Amino acid sequence: MNAAIRSVVRYAVSSKIEVMGIFRGYSGLINEEMKLLNHRSVSSIINRGGTILKTARCPEFLTDAGQKRGVEIIKKNNIDGLVLIGGDGTYRGGIQLSRKWGIPCVGLPGTIDNDLNGTDSTIGSDTATNTALEAIDKIRDTATSMERIFVVEVMGRASGYIALQVAVASGAEEVLIPERKYDLQAMYHEIVEGNIRGKISWIIVVAEGYSKAEDIANKITEMTDLETRVVVLGHVQRGGSPTAHDRILATRLGAEAVKLLISGESGKAVGVISDNINVVDFETAVSKEAFEVENRYNLLKTLT
Ligand code: F6P
Repeated sequence: MNAAIRSVVRYAVSSKIEVMGIFRGYSGLINEEMKLLNHRSVSSIINRGGTILKTARCPEFLTDAGQKRGVEIIKKNNIDGLVLIGGDGTYRGGIQLSRKWGIPCVGLPGTIDNDLNGTDSTIGSDTATNTALEAIDKIRDTATSMERIFVVEVMGRASGYIALQVAVASGAEEVLIPERKYDLQAMYHEIVEGNIRGKISWIIVVAEGYSKAEDIANKITEMTDLETRVVVLGHVQRGGSPTAHDRILATRLGAEAVKLLISGESGKAVGVISDNINVVDFETAVSKEAFEVENRYNLLKTLT
């Protein structure tokens, strides 16, 4: 997100537009937590994880009263347009602000879950995937050496994106994601069969939205009588220096959002499809079509 903030600020400033940074998303908007940002305010942040503006969840913004308060603050501060950086919840707030309250808004896809329409990739998803991959590569060393079954839980409350990507990239034996239905009996059977043939080490990646890793591991032990170990990667996946892919994506999209606002657009989300800038309505961006999982899953299983 920092790379996106930097791009928005510097592109706007170069177009003679003042930029106000709003802290903690909609929560900071309601509480009027904001300050003017200039070229130098965003120096040396392109390589930093997290966001200098901080972030928060804001249930109050789901209410009419919360939105009204936000709109009052926007008007009071003479803000002509908003760049919203975030995921599904952020865009849904953007739908309200632009359609119901007439506030010009453009959105940038900022979520590690990569679960927005209209873009091949969301800012942060590549970094999170690579962070999880690095961890799983390390876990594999113990899994292989000690001949153990590891169940590794990765983030994705409603999305199996990180899990599937990281499973393919790490050569995992199985991946469990909310987008698929599984016959777990078949998996237990496969583990036992493998064990008879001498294949004892397994990496099973589980998206948190499918199940807790611990529950899967306990079930495997119960059904196969084999020892398991659990690793929950958790919030390490949301931190750290962003990959080149994410920095470039954020930089391109940040500038594009400013251009769209200047040209009078509103209620739109910017993304990249096949390396070209792509603009869709917020409504389209949040109408998530499940990403294509079967081909990738089948490939993973064929190569296991
Ligand atoms: O929505 C992004 C996400 O990282 C999900 O993958 C994850 O389930 C959730 O946020 C975690 O949210 P929190 O930090 O509030 O527990």
